[in-house]
Amino acid sequence: MKTPISGFSRLSKEEKIEWIAENYTHNSIETKNILKRYWNREKEVQKLHDEFIENTISNYYLPLGIAPNFLIDGQLMAIPMAIEESSVVAGASKAAKFWLDHGGFSTKVLGTEKIGQVHFIFKGNPKKLELFFNHILPILLEEAKPLTKNMEKRGGGITKIELRDKTAELENYYQLHCTFETLDAMGANFINSCLEQFALTFKTKALVFDQFEEHEKKIEIVMSILSNYVPNCLVRASVSCPVDELKVNSTIESQDFAEKFVRAIQIANVEPHRAVTHNKGIMNGIDAVVLATGNDFRAVEAGVHAYAAKNSSYKSLTHASIIDGIFSFWIEIPLALGTVGGLTNLHPLVKLALEILQRPSAKELMRIVAVAGLAQNFAAVSSLVTTGIQEGHMKMHLMNILNQLHATDKEKETIIDYFKNHPVTHSAVVEIFEKLRS
Ligand code: MEV
Repeated sequence: MKTPISGFSRLSKEEKIEWIAENYTHNSIETKNILKRYWNREKEVQKLHDEFIENTISNYYLPLGIAPNFLIDGQLMAIPMAIEESSVVAGASKAAKFWLDHGGFSTKVLGTEKIGQVHFIFKGNPKKLELFFNHILPILLEEAKPLTKNMEKRGGGITKIELRDKTAELENYYQLHCTFETLDAMGANFINSCLEQFALTFKTKALVFDQFEEHEKKIEIVMSILSNYVPNCLVRASVSCPVDELKVNSTIESQDFAEKFVRAIQIANVEPHRAVTHNKGIMNGIDAVVLATGNDFRAVEAGVHAYAAKNSSYKSLTHASIIDGIFSFWIEIPLALGTVGGLTNLHPLVKLALEILQRPSAKELMRIVAVAGLAQNFAAVSSLVTTGIQEGHMKMHLMNILNQLHATDKEKETIIDYFKNHPVTHSAVVEIFEKLRS
């Protein structure tokens, strides 16, 4: 019978491990061994990781891979990707290589606007609220100055504050809808600090606004928080080439491939079940770079999927066309990313990933991440409309199966060699492995 614990966060790391091992695992010695095997040998590095979150007991590794040969706006790049799925880096690399020989990727940042909102309840005359808002606007900006002056020096800051009447959707509900330019920072802390200051100023000054009736002076601030939906923090990445140069493999003619590819995108545009999986494939590439560069992949995921559903049904994030014999394939995607702040100058691997990417600005990182998503989708859809996904996927997954079977290096070599010419299935791998052992 398990019992709750109080004061867990105040236990030492050893005590936390002891507690979890004793209470929630069947072999406490093995549990402790596993957890400690993943500690970093260097005390300083481990301390850094311990302090990222509360209650750290170990580190959770993901492979960090490199997808080379990305030609992006004329610059050759190698993209670091942190991901567990076997075929993702291979897919990205294959797509990068293909487009390296076909003109590379072009990108454009279409906007960098970030959004935050103060949500509040006002029970009174909306006209008077508007009067108050116009009166308070310069004061909101003035009182946020200590927070904004550094960002302003660098060219960013608050770009707009609007009063929005949402009472048609929810009784007495209004917002301060605010937009920001946060330059190379993702900006969550900056935005949230500004919003909390706006809320405080707004609420306090309402108490002494002489045109409000007594009951109108009591504005209820519900919450102040940035929005991860950033449809104007948008980047576009594209590739194109003549259809007759679109020879991805020997199983299909270029024209057939191009037409099938475009059809696959059209299907993802009209069929949400397919669109979700299609976009999941895009996020394989996006998340892997977002994670490797220490950015908030949950924020990106939430914003991207909201964007995919912006026209009331969930659609593909990528688009494709064939016009006058030219195949074009592109993505438009909202990405709120940072290359300063957060983990970017703390986590040694994140710093290294950014160095590999030639220390990008946030805008440059938006371009790179969008390209990774487009490349991933090109790889996935190319396989889907030709050989099917399982051939490549299972080839990449073969090593996982061999590791599950505890195959030796020699056995791996023999079996990998065998499957160069045979379809990989889990049972076929087990069968040949057992044959080899016997
Ligand atoms: C698997 O992780 C991703 C795919 O399902 C994407 C797609 O279907 O487009 C292959």
